[in-house]
Amino acid sequence: MTDQPRIVVTRRPPGRAMEMLEGSCRVVLWDEDRAMPRDDLLTAIAQADGLYSMLTDAVDAALLAAAPSLRAVSQMAVGLDNVDLAAATVRGIPVGHTPEVLNETTADTVFALLLALVRRVVEGAAYVKEGRWGPWQPELLLGGDLHHTTLGIIGMGRIGSVVARRASGFEMRILYHNRRPNEHAADLNAHFRSFEDLLAESDHVVVMAPLTDETYHLIDRRALELMKPTATLVNGSRGGLVDPVALEEALREGWISGAALDVTEPEPIPADHPLLDLENCLIIPHLGSASVATRAAMAELAAENLIAALAGRRMPACANPAVYE
Ligand code: GLV
Ligand code: GLV
Repeated sequence: MTDQPRIVVTRRPPGRAMEMLEGSCRVVLWDEDRAMPRDDLLTAIAQADGLYSMLTDAVDAALLAAAPSLRAVSQMAVGLDNVDLAAATVRGIPVGHTPEVLNETTADTVFALLLALVRRVVEGAAYVKEGRWGPWQPELLLGGDLHHTTLGIIGMGRIGSVVARRASGFEMRILYHNRRPNEHAADLNAHFRSFEDLLAESDHVVVMAPLTDETYHLIDRRALELMKPTATLVNGSRGGLVDPVALEEALREGWISGAALDVTEPEPIPADHPLLDLENCLIIPHLGSASVATRAAMAELAAENLIAALAGRRMPACANPAVYE
């Protein structure tokens, strides 16, 4: 068994993933309930053939350079902004991720945020727990509507398309903006708009684009100023897409009516961050794909990606297929 590949697993994954990995690899597992410290990862990676990473690990050029025998990286996430994909590709290292398996759950979470924000669910629950619920009132905690409003989706990829499908059930008008028109948009009844027109026309703007140099702070002061004062913003991708200083100003000054964030910059958001003082800002701790079944599916797909690559096979879900050319 000494010729089994050696892998580093930076956090215990759910589902059957550990069992799968232990079946064909010698595993070094960081088994604490916090992210693996950089120094420990740098030490462990020096001997490793494979890395099973989390989005909290910086898989950068320095880490890859410290790993002379590394042949595969597999991350238990779809987003790879923490991974230097170009550096891995130059070294011929395939990088796996977990597309598709989290689309439906993440779209559900986007709708949970939209509905909670617009119908003031969290404020209502707090009101009851605080013992403030008196006789029924005609104007208690009135909010906005989701049905028959206009939804603008920025980033119409795999998850954005599922969000659009959900929106049809709410009889929403659907607009989207993407680097290039989405070929399935017509089937989804979604209409392409320029970035500026989408912001100006939408009642609810959902950000689902991946974080890259081009999308960093895409939602800045100028973008927020283009939105309707009654509009809401939901970020379901990465915190870096939204400038938090501009957002705080927009929410305080009423440029928009509310925001719901699954992701923040920085992440985790400090408990004394000014966004947490605002009643029209709802924040949850990066729970987009956090159902029991979906997290297990992600963990198992990431295990399959790593096992395949280390056995010399193509990864089922590889983010840099150029390494196979
Ligand atoms: C989670 O945010 C992911 O990228 O899978
Ligand atoms: C990106 O995360 C996507 O699959 O839409």
